[in-house]
Amino acid sequence: MRVHVADHPLVAHKLTVLRQASTPSPVFRQLTEELVTLLAYEATRGISVEEVDIVTPVAPTTGTHLTTPRPMVVPILRAGLGMLEGMTRLLPTAEVGFLGLVRNEETLEAVTYANRLPDDLSGRQCYLLDPMLATGGTLVAAIDYLFERGARNVTCITLLCAPEGLDTVEKAVGDRADVTIVTASIDERLNERGYIVPGLGDAGDRLYG
Ligand code: PRP
Repeated sequence: MRVHVADHPLVAHKLTVLRQASTPSPVFRQLTEELVTLLAYEATRGISVEEVDIVTPVAPTTGTHLTTPRPMVVPILRAGLGMLEGMTRLLPTAEVGFLGLVRNEETLEAVTYANRLPDDLSGRQCYLLDPMLATGGTLVAAIDYLFERGARNVTCITLLCAPEGLDTVEKAVGDRADVTIVTASIDERLNERGYIVPGLGDAGDRLYG
């Protein structure tokens, strides 16, 4: 598993505003989209392309196109939905699947309530969207759903990660597949309620609450 922390002043600036408890929902939603577009730029660095012959108004040349099958983008509901627009702005031809997972706030276990993924994901580059990687339970379950359908190339875009959650995902994934996590920050730790510290609170509530 690879972890890439986006080191860019605009990422840091937008994340700082997101973290502030006083930032209202409309601004939080707008900044999440903008931040995801910046992270998506990093996350798609390894997207597969093929060479094509083209003709400009001046001369023939070669360029690149995204390969088929199309990439798959999967927001994890509910909070991941706030990242979808920022992602599809960069990848407008991507297919979009949906996973609904909610963390039981007592046990911290992820519970699945929706699954709209194609049956066969073999050969597809998949992008999972979820703002928070806390204990890692949600992301492990989501990666498993993609693996079960044959995906072997999964990039997870998160705004924040806890070190504990990264360890959990790394242990679960091992070297089974090509898994990359792209994030704006690895924070200090989880608190006793499973919240990322310093974090930004409950992303779902701040987006939609
Ligand atoms: C939050 C967050 C992640 C998950 C992370 O979602 O958006 O999906 O918790 O926690 P974990 O790493 O400990 O599994 P939540 O369960 O609050 O649902 P929501 O997106 O519907 O608000």
